Amino acid sequence: MELVHIPMILSLAAAVSVCDGAAGAATGIPGGGDVGFIRASCSFTLYPRVCERCLARYASAVKGSHCHLAGAAVNETLRVARSASTLVGRYAVRSPAAGAISDCLETVGESVDLLRQSAEELRQMGRPGTPNYAWRLSNLQTWVSAALTNEITCLDGVTRARVDPVVKATICGRIIGLKQMTSNALAFINHLAAGP
Ligand SMILES: *[C@@H]1O[C@H](CO)[C@@H](O)[C@H](O)[C@H]1NC(C)=O
Repeated sequence: MELVHIPMILSLAAAVSVCDGAAGAATGIPGGGDVGFIRASCSFTLYPRVCERCLARYASAVKGSHCHLAGAAVNETLRVARSASTLVGRYAVRSPAAGAISDCLETVGESVDLLRQSAEELRQMGRPGTPNYAWRLSNLQTWVSAALTNEITCLDGVTRARVDPVVKATICGRIIGLKQMTSNALAFINHLAAGP
């Protein structure tokens, strides 16, 4: 099998496993109509399955608010980014010769920082029209798209690197899930920027 295709093959697997622990939430109906809002919003993202699976459990906290939805998406993406960074860190220690893995650790670490900043910015957002709202929103767009770029850089590097195929598949699988989450969070933020 061509190693280059691993990320594509893993794409579906990532969709299934990225939000481990959220499994029950997507199938139950804890928030009634609120889950409908999450589902409808997710249907406009590039990765609706991952989106629903990861965010359904926030339905009652989100309560039909686009801003809270973006907040939940960034929070959850940050959580996934931290765990991906821990995973990549473990392999970076084990295979010190594999520069691509250390590079990936660095870029994913930056993603964690960018997402943490973004989560903080969202907490301070306020309502549309209040001072700094537009400025904070544009910061969010900048930071979350930078996080996405970092994740793609990591994926490209590890995909091309000469490392053990299982290690490669494990890292790429995790980063693909993270990339999908980040892309979805960015879609929600861009939706906020587009206005009501
Ligand atoms: C995101 O996390 C912060 C604290 O970590 C919390 O205050 C906030 O309510 C969360 N947002 C959503 C929508 O869950």
